[in-house]
Amino acid sequence: MPVQRIDRLLANMGLCSRKQAVAAAKNGAVTVNGEICRDASRKIDPEHCRLTFRGEPVGYEEHVYLMLHKPLGVLSATEDREQKTVLDLLPETYRARGVFPVGRLDKDTSGLLLLTDDGALGHALTSPRRQVQKVYEAETDGVLGQADIDAFVSGLTLRDGTICRPAKLEIRAVHDGHSYVAVTVCEGKYHQVRRMLAARGAPVLTLRRVAEGSLPLDPALQPGQWRPLRPDEIALLRTGFD
Ligand code: URA
Repeated sequence: MPVQRIDRLLANMGLCSRKQAVAAAKNGAVTVNGEICRDASRKIDPEHCRLTFRGEPVGYEEHVYLMLHKPLGVLSATEDREQKTVLDLLPETYRARGVFPVGRLDKDTSGLLLLTDDGALGHALTSPRRQVQKVYEAETDGVLGQADIDAFVSGLTLRDGTICRPAKLEIRAVHDGHSYVAVTVCEGKYHQVRRMLAARGAPVLTLRRVAEGSLPLDPALQPGQWRPLRPDEIALLRTGFD
């Protein structure tokens, strides 16, 4: 891991903002190798230093796991010549670590996107064999009903003949010719949810992913905001994979 400023390191780990780190260090809340360090701009190698913050050791983690509330209009990619990507929403150090998005959300889809530099977990979560469930909330142009719920359960055939695995459609409200639904799928075909709803004559107006596996989107995260996963959340994601 590269040498980093202490304020940046603490902020990247989600422990506080850089400003808070500067103030906390001034107040003696940061130690490096057992000595109080009041200068948060000091650069350290976190792999080879003992850093504490507010009395707690700050350990170097082999991998990082982040939850992003992906906003609309951003690509689920690591880089793009013209368009903004989800990596552009994170501190630069994550790009240097090789962090990548786990799976994809369309440019026009918002919601939960996991990012990690743990290739094994990223692969496990996206492998078709694992059938990890993903939950989406959608507003559609068109009224959906029981026949559509049944069609989802049976396994929909898309307009191009693609057959989908059984999925769940929950109709939460219908208003002014629009339906407000939750869709649970366990595969990740291209534009899958949009194509499933279009196949039932109800094109998607808005789409947001609200859960992946047992992990819900943190309601405290506004679009564009992110945070590191807590250890219990990482353990939840790993359930059944180790
Ligand atoms: N299904 C879609 O159609 N789009 C997404 O971004 C995710 C699932």
